[in-house]
Amino acid sequence: MSTPLFLLPALLLAAAAATSKTAESLTVAPGCQASCGSVDIPYPFGIGSGCSRKGFEIDCINNGPVLTGTSFEVVRLSVDPAESLVRLPVGFKCYNASDPSNYEDSSYGETFINKEGVYRISNTHNMVVVLGCNTFAQAASTKTDGTNYTYAFYTGCMSYCNNSASAQDGLCAGVGCCHVDVPPGLTDNFFKFTTYEHNGMMDYSPCDYGFLVDRTNYTFKRSDLLRDPNRTSLVWLDWAIRDNVTVSGDILSCTEAAKTTTPKYACVSDHSKCVNSINGPGYSCSCYDGYEGNAYVVNGCTSTIGGILVIAFMAFFIIIRKERRKTKEFYEKNGGLTLEKAKVIKLFKKEELKKILKSGNIIGKGGFGEVYKGLVDNELVAVKKPIRSNVLESTQFANEVIIQSQVIHKNIVKLIGCCLEVDTPMLVYEFIPKGSLDDILHKGDNKVPLSLDVRLSIIKESAHGLAYMHSQAHTKILHGDVKPANILLNGNFVPKLSDFGISRLIAIDKDHTANVIGDMTYMDPVYLQTGRLTEKSDVYSFGVVILEVISRKKATHRDNNSLVASFLECRKEGRKATELFDQEIAATEDLELLEALAGIAVECLNIDVDHRPSMTDVVSRLATLRAWPTRFGLSDY
Ligand SMILES: *[C@@H]1O[C@H](CO)[C@@H](O)[C@H](O)[C@H]1NC(C)=O
Ligand SMILES: *[C@@H]1O[C@H](CO)[C@@H](O)[C@H](O)[C@H]1NC(C)=O
Ligand SMILES: *[C@@H]1O[C@H](CO)[C@@H](O)[C@H](O)[C@H]1NC(C)=O
Ligand SMILES: *[C@@H]1O[C@H](CO)[C@@H](O)[C@H](O)[C@H]1NC(C)=O
Ligand SMILES: *[C@@H]1O[C@H](CO)[C@@H](O)[C@H](O)[C@H]1NC(C)=O
Ligand SMILES: *[C@@H]1O[C@H](CO)[C@@H](O)[C@H](O)[C@H]1NC(C)=O
Repeated sequence: MSTPLFLLPALLLAAAAATSKTAESLTVAPGCQASCGSVDIPYPFGIGSGCSRKGFEIDCINNGPVLTGTSFEVVRLSVDPAESLVRLPVGFKCYNASDPSNYEDSSYGETFINKEGVYRISNTHNMVVVLGCNTFAQAASTKTDGTNYTYAFYTGCMSYCNNSASAQDGLCAGVGCCHVDVPPGLTDNFFKFTTYEHNGMMDYSPCDYGFLVDRTNYTFKRSDLLRDPNRTSLVWLDWAIRDNVTVSGDILSCTEAAKTTTPKYACVSDHSKCVNSINGPGYSCSCYDGYEGNAYVVNGCTSTIGGILVIAFMAFFIIIRKERRKTKEFYEKNGGLTLEKAKVIKLFKKEELKKILKSGNIIGKGGFGEVYKGLVDNELVAVKKPIRSNVLESTQFANEVIIQSQVIHKNIVKLIGCCLEVDTPMLVYEFIPKGSLDDILHKGDNKVPLSLDVRLSIIKESAHGLAYMHSQAHTKILHGDVKPANILLNGNFVPKLSDFGISRLIAIDKDHTANVIGDMTYMDPVYLQTGRLTEKSDVYSFGVVILEVISRKKATHRDNNSLVASFLECRKEGRKATELFDQEIAATEDLELLEALAGIAVECLNIDVDHRPSMTDVVSRLATLRAWPTRFGLSDY
């Protein structure tokens, strides 16, 4: 689950890269010019009719954008924050060299930019600067009265220089240069100069200057006192949607604007919000956190990479949480609570087994699923991971685990623990190094030599394990699939029965009938007929195992079980089965013993269930055959 999850952010980043392109094309009205020169023109700004909102018209003249109706160059248009950077003229008054008490050239440096009222001169970004050596100048906004000095704004400062050397570069503090703040709400501006005598300073300060400028974009230089009537300065304008519909002419704020249809509410993009203007009335539009783009156009706000990451991580954590919940659900479904109380077995966390469940660790694979080898708590284990989830009652599984955990016998593979945090529980068994009896008997070209003693011991001890299962006091445990492949051998060829109880419970699918439970080759024909599994079914299967061990031939159902048939025939005809035994032992070993083993096997195979011995009988019969081989422990294998 984790691998694709970790890809998610990367995928979303790719998506973001893709969408940011689209977002760009969405910031302009359809069919309109997206830029002029090097300046982007995002809506609500626009060049040409139908391309902008009213009041936001831009002209593109010789590849240079200007505010429509003015000659003021536009340097930058920003949508969020709602700001424009423009180049505005500088006000000045230059004196007559031959008559320094009179001026000969002047400009108010008017900035009447605001026919529709969308702009305000930014009070936060700009300042008023006055240059000169005997100068008093004021910045003022529109006169409201032609005779009386009633301005919307009227402020300025005095600058004086003692001599040509007194003004210092970098210092605008009243000597050659002074500056004052700009109040909010200014719609326009011009400069007024009070005329003072410039006698004796015409060579280093022939003019007075007044201008608005970006606070961060002007540093005084003494040379700025010299004559240059063509100066401009960079000024920030705050803009906003300042529509009026009411009779009173009041300008709409967010709440009012959102309710009107004409003029159209400007915040049209999804994921956008309205923000009341802080410099003057009206409002502007912003994308929500995690989105960026142009809130003034449909679909203009798109997820930022940061936003996408936020979404990705949220998705990630939701999935993680879901995964945790699922883990808990599985745990409970699989009887975790019952098993916790029973305290009979180790309950592994998914993470503890994760490092084992790698394809490199697979030691067995089949219809049931996969078996992995690995280390847990410094102990070699085999983890059985079933493929399919079956309809298991939680209590059924838990009970089986409890029963099986109580089956402790040296000839039965020990169940160490299980992991219930997955749909189908995984089972952790002790690891049995030599593999199965089936492998030892039949696999490979260089078959391991197996003496009769070893074979007898394997048969005897397997019988012990099976008899133990059948004789469990409280719950008789049936194996149901006795065969060489389910008899594992440890380093000393000590057999251990595996794959019974829960492990088979898991592997049985509800939809499948009994015939897939066990291997047909070893299956009791009576069980096949009746469908009733009894301990005598295990006895039958054990008979087939004995025959395989002494013949070292594989019994197969496909050839009509010829191995079983041959032995049965010999018995029926009262013949010795010498030619059926594995030549390796028949040549050198005790033929009588082999015949006796064959005899026990044939009894186990009796078609009449009542005439089959019990496993306990088999054990005692085997015990009489030869003393337990003490000489085997056998490092020479
Ligand atoms: C400068 O002053 C002189 C003397 O008064 C006058 O003759 C001249 O026209 C003035 N120059 C300008 C450009 O006003
Ligand atoms: C200017 O001010 C004077 C005196 O306060 C007042 O009488 C006059 O009406 C004002 N002019 C205008 C145009 O408001
Ligand atoms: C102003 O000029 C006078 C005479 O030139 C000089 O003594 C004085 O230090 C100057 N003051 C400043 C502040 O420059
Ligand atoms: C003012 O801004 C312009 C344009 O961004 C830049 O070229 C110039 O160097 C700036 N001047 C100062 C003093 O920061
Ligand atoms: C100011 O601009 C005019 C017209 O563009 C130009 O003729 C003049 O030389 C300029 N003056 C200075 C001092 O740059
Ligand atoms: C709305 O504002 C415009 C200028 O932007 C103005 O011409 C118009 O008269 C105003 N409408 C009302 C009802 O005040």
